[in-house]
Amino acid sequence: MTRKTDILIIGGGMAGLTCALEIPERYAVTILSKIELPTGSTFLAQGGLAAVTSEDDSIENHLRDTQKAGAGMVDETVAREIISMGPELVSVLSGWGITLEGANGDGGGMEGGHSFRRVLHYFDQTGRFISEHLADECRKRTNITIIEDAFAINLIPASREALSLLQKGSDRCLGAYVLIGEDVVTFLARETVLATGGAGKTYRYTSNQDSSTGDGIAMAFRAGLPVRNMEFYQFHPTCLYHPDKRNFLITEALRGEGATLVNESGKRFMEYYDSQRMELAPRDIVARAIDSEMKHYGTDHMYLDATHLSRDFLEGHFPEVTSGVMSVGIEPWNEPIPIVPAAHYCVGGVVAATDGSTEMIGLRVIGEAASTGFHGANRLGSNSLLEAGVMGLLCARSFREDTPAEIKALQVRDWSFGRAEPLEESVLVDHSWASLRSVMWDYVGIVKTDKRLRRALKLLDVLAEEVEEDYWTLLPTVEQLELRNLTTVARIIVRSALKRRECVGLHYLMDCPHTSHIKTDTILKINM
Ligand code: FAD
Ligand code: SIN
Repeated sequence: MTRKTDILIIGGGMAGLTCALEIPERYAVTILSKIELPTGSTFLAQGGLAAVTSEDDSIENHLRDTQKAGAGMVDETVAREIISMGPELVSVLSGWGITLEGANGDGGGMEGGHSFRRVLHYFDQTGRFISEHLADECRKRTNITIIEDAFAINLIPASREALSLLQKGSDRCLGAYVLIGEDVVTFLARETVLATGGAGKTYRYTSNQDSSTGDGIAMAFRAGLPVRNMEFYQFHPTCLYHPDKRNFLITEALRGEGATLVNESGKRFMEYYDSQRMELAPRDIVARAIDSEMKHYGTDHMYLDATHLSRDFLEGHFPEVTSGVMSVGIEPWNEPIPIVPAAHYCVGGVVAATDGSTEMIGLRVIGEAASTGFHGANRLGSNSLLEAGVMGLLCARSFREDTPAEIKALQVRDWSFGRAEPLEESVLVDHSWASLRSVMWDYVGIVKTDKRLRRALKLLDVLAEEVEEDYWTLLPTVEQLELRNLTTVARIIVRSALKRRECVGLHYLMDCPHTSHIKTDTILKINM
């Protein structure tokens, strides 16, 4: 079956929904999400959205903080453009009913690496507030169709399906094959926008939702697009350590209100790692400090102490965190919270400009799946909702022309199931999922060595062979397709980490402890 639309947006988080709402209403827009909206990492965001709204702050200050966190690898032009558009994004959001605390220049939150209280938020439920409103707004628009439980499998490049549409040597994206129920539907569009988020599920411990499996990055990579700097995977220093509540973030904003990191005996340890900025040092430093303390004491967690704050303050300002930790019996005003660092944000991604445009005509990549150069080697907290929102706006505003007749008339062949058979033993997929995530956690974590990376690559190569065989012989299921994407992304992360012969930002390779003076990007393409 084939469905046609002007603009196909794959992903219903901050990037995808902002883009959809900003697209002129004369275009038919289809949003696909593999799970029900509101969803994605966007839904989980706690701290907020960084933007300059106070006269005492400035674009230059925000830029400087971003560059410092990014360890000299931030693309200044890109960062200036995104940061300068922060105030406009805040006002556009406000027009859609999303007014954040601090939007009028006061009351913004503080986070690590920021020199000013510029993190705009809605209590510690910023993401939920934003995504619920964006989704509601999209549902009101007559030009927007939302299809949930729709899993994009592969992009459709003209080089494979419609050679006549290749333009001046560049490939062109024609849409995507999408699994809906047991059918694979061919979606054809003039522009396809990947807004599929990150890939935290590559790791055993992650702050991300189960849907963060790097699908867009893997799809673009398979279609021949370059993927950049994937060795920079950000670990959030403070996720709750508890068997019954995995993947639960304890927002950095709590450290912004004075919460301290302590070991088993209650001793504060950040003074040994960054005596100036202490708990508000950039995330790479804080996560490595916790990792190092855990290794030193042979424990699997440390603690975040917020007992200087009253119950009223915690419940009033951090309702999400307070109710979350209380649900597992912890009273944060009385006792320190056990925490562990966890995979949080994919700094690298598909090479894209700030409006999402890529090497492939008709394909945009926006939000966490993209790599614009904004974050350099380490993302400053709360800069990603900003980037996702700004990219959404710029992407939407760049659609000016009507859909060309040859695209409207286009037909491509349907998905072929060949002789594929149903998966009889789901243990095969479950086991591979678990081993992939263990390999990545044990060998490709916060601190890396060549030996561990090489071992990880060997194991992942074997896994990739099995997964590929299943892909060609079994009927498609979401779990199996996600595993395939995760395997692709994991191998890209490891190969990128092996290529970077230095320590910079989030990349800490013990065999190469120096930092290079020349800043280079790690770029991988499918046939490289
Ligand atoms: P997402 O919001 O992750 O959305 C991805 C969408 O793609 C989803 O709708 C998903 O269903 C869909 N999708 C994925 N694959 C497919 C597929 N194959 N087919 C169809 N649909 C697909 N950043 C900040 O700036 N401030 C914060 O306070 C903050 N807090 C965070 C807290 C947590 C716990 C986490 C995990 C992240 C946080 N971040 C924060 C990061 C930030 O939330 C994300 O980077 C940002 O929301 C990403 O937005 P996105 O639109 O790119 O992707
Ligand atoms: C947090 O609230 O600590 C997360 C902020 C972010 O990831 O940007």
